[in-house]
Amino acid sequence: MKKRVLSGIQPTGRLHLGNLIGAVENWVRLQREFDCFFFIADYHALTTAYADTKNLRADSKQLTLDLLSAGIDPDRCVLFRQSDIPEHAELHLLFSMITPLSWLERVPTYKSKIDELKERDLGTYGFLGYPVLQAADILIYKANMVPVGEDQLPHLELTREIARRFNHLYREHFPEPQGALTAFPVLPGTDGRKMSKSYQNTIALADPPATLRKKVAGMVTDPARVKKDDPGHPEVCPVYAYYQVFAKERTGTVAAECRAARRGCVECKKELADLLLTYLAPLHERRARLETEPEKLEEILTAGAAKARRIATQTLAEVKEAVGLR
Ligand code: TRP
Ligand code: SF4
Repeated sequence: MKKRVLSGIQPTGRLHLGNLIGAVENWVRLQREFDCFFFIADYHALTTAYADTKNLRADSKQLTLDLLSAGIDPDRCVLFRQSDIPEHAELHLLFSMITPLSWLERVPTYKSKIDELKERDLGTYGFLGYPVLQAADILIYKANMVPVGEDQLPHLELTREIARRFNHLYREHFPEPQGALTAFPVLPGTDGRKMSKSYQNTIALADPPATLRKKVAGMVTDPARVKKDDPGHPEVCPVYAYYQVFAKERTGTVAAECRAARRGCVECKKELADLLLTYLAPLHERRARLETEPEKLEEILTAGAAKARRIATQTLAEVKEAVGLR
């Protein structure tokens, strides 16, 4: 039997190149080989965005468009929206009964997110329970492999702890899922820091070509390179980091010319913008096609929900039986 893979992503902001390289391209590869479940984590988005939900529906739709245009293929995986499967919430409730508070308080993202989002009140029950909901997402499909970024590993550890506790208290039921990290380097944002929506340094998959060119033209380069005759240091330059990810075959020439001061940063960025637009062309085409048939998105999510729900209801029935409710 094929291993089951599951991952989710929150509908907050457009997908950017960092998400594409760090996560979604990996999902696209995995769907060829495994039994894959990918979902829009809109309940999770509510844990931090509960006070302002006016964009939630539109953001979920845009994320669906982004995922499909990046190559997530509903014929090869199950793509669905978390809130279409109420069983996630019900399993979350049952898990909340057996999860000690101390396990949740020591999850590193708990304190760091509260610090990061100071302007929001995250002293809520739902936010503390974020990783319990994530455990329900994963275990309701008995997923074996969860492709995520490094920051999510504590959530997976907690998922395994909840699975073990459930298996111990009631009966052996849940397999322990493993995290699967992608080998890809972190793509810097246009300012050289980590690419993140909160830094406003992202390049979105859906950015129109003119926007992409403008963002690339404004990228930070080797700070020691003031004039074109100054020799550059590609290894510290974010523009060069993009060449390494998106145009490996050009890195030798670019690095040599940069070090010898035979390449100006302006032309270097122009070339990069062209390369990125070529790379993204098939995504932009798919997106343009999907935008002309909006009813298709809903169809895809509805079909995905039906498939996911068959499994989720089955697991939940077994769980209720094991817990003693049935
Ligand atoms: N917490 C994940 C993130 O922020 C999103 C997520 C929610 C998820 N549920 C999941 C990831 C289940 C993997 C499996 O990236
Ligand atoms: Fe960076 Fe290119 Fe300028 Fe060198 S020439 S510093 S690699 S942008």
